[in-house]
Amino acid sequence: MIHPVILSGGSGTRLWPLSRAAVPKQLLPLASELSLLQETVQRFAGQEGFGAPLVVCNQEHRFLIAEQLRQLQVQPEAIVLEPVGRNTAPAATIAALRLTAQDADAVMLLLPADHLIADVAAFRSLVAQGLGVVRQGYLVTFGVVPHQPETGYGYIQQGEALGGTPARRIARFVEKPGAEAAAAMLEQGGYFWNSGMFLCSCQRWLQEMRRFRPDIVQACEAALAGERADLDFCRLDEAAFAACPSDSIDYAVMERTDRAAVLPADIGWNDIGAWSALWSVGAKDARANVVRGDVWLQDVDTSLVRAESRMVAAIGVRDLVIVETADAVLVVDRNRAQDVKQVVDALKQAG
Ligand code: GDD
Ligand code: MG
Repeated sequence: MIHPVILSGGSGTRLWPLSRAAVPKQLLPLASELSLLQETVQRFAGQEGFGAPLVVCNQEHRFLIAEQLRQLQVQPEAIVLEPVGRNTAPAATIAALRLTAQDADAVMLLLPADHLIADVAAFRSLVAQGLGVVRQGYLVTFGVVPHQPETGYGYIQQGEALGGTPARRIARFVEKPGAEAAAAMLEQGGYFWNSGMFLCSCQRWLQEMRRFRPDIVQACEAALAGERADLDFCRLDEAAFAACPSDSIDYAVMERTDRAAVLPADIGWNDIGAWSALWSVGAKDARANVVRGDVWLQDVDTSLVRAESRMVAAIGVRDLVIVETADAVLVVDRNRAQDVKQVVDALKQAG
């Protein structure tokens, strides 16, 4: 049985002003009427061979997440609450420990809650293929063909083919390289971007974590030993989890393991890193604008305009992102959408 594990810990600062600490991007309806988390859950809900989703999230978001699952009529395996964020390696380890306690052969599909996948059918059949690779003892990643020297991703160098499957062993995994290294890998070829989704047996995951980060496994075991039920939620032991070191799946395991494989994934993957990505994936009008809410445009091209609470009108502009909310308005050049993070940093500093 494959258990979807939904990782919902990030805040998505580059999607300010819509994304806030209280309502991070994965809980917002950004690309459709469903939130990104709901879209993630729905990809595998009720599919044969899949168990109920296990959500690992920050405790602050518990009611919103429970409500969003209720809307989908999905009963989760569990909603595990982290008192503090310790990045993805502890979250995955908590999931693996819980799942193996019930089913020694459990396989988990780690899914970031904030990604979009255009071709869900292709992704499902890829996961089915991946299961065969997992049974050969590998941690499976899904590799996306890179098209620019992006520094915010992991890079996967493909190694030898694994007989009888489209998967290849991973020769080298480089998490978030510098700009020069990223450009060199793109130039050289034979690299994929890591999509950040992983398929692996829980046992294998724990084995690799015990090899590379036994301290994290111990802290997670302690956090689970002190776990307590609260309504429908599972609260990790606060002190034990707070004492857990912080690390990501990519640095803790993927850069170090020799047991990883990559499946090329042509599935319309997008991690919605910034407003420009929502423009790219959004449905466009005749002048290539992506519009949502009460918006009036004249002679506007290739822009994203979103009105949440008031009407927005724009005339004679192009390549803009305009996002209106009740208490803040963003206007930014679409090609500088990554810089929105600076606003959030500045606001944080100002207190
Ligand atoms: N539960 C939990 N707790 N989830 C977390 C935590 C945490 O402390 N921190 C992050 N997450 C969730 C985020 O919400 C997101 O869905 C996912 O885990 C990945 O975390 P990010 O912080 O978004 O990672 P990243 O984007 O920098 O890098 C990862 O994804 C890239 C692709 O989008 C890496 O796997 C890269 O290698 C990869 O290329
Ligand atoms: Mg991310």
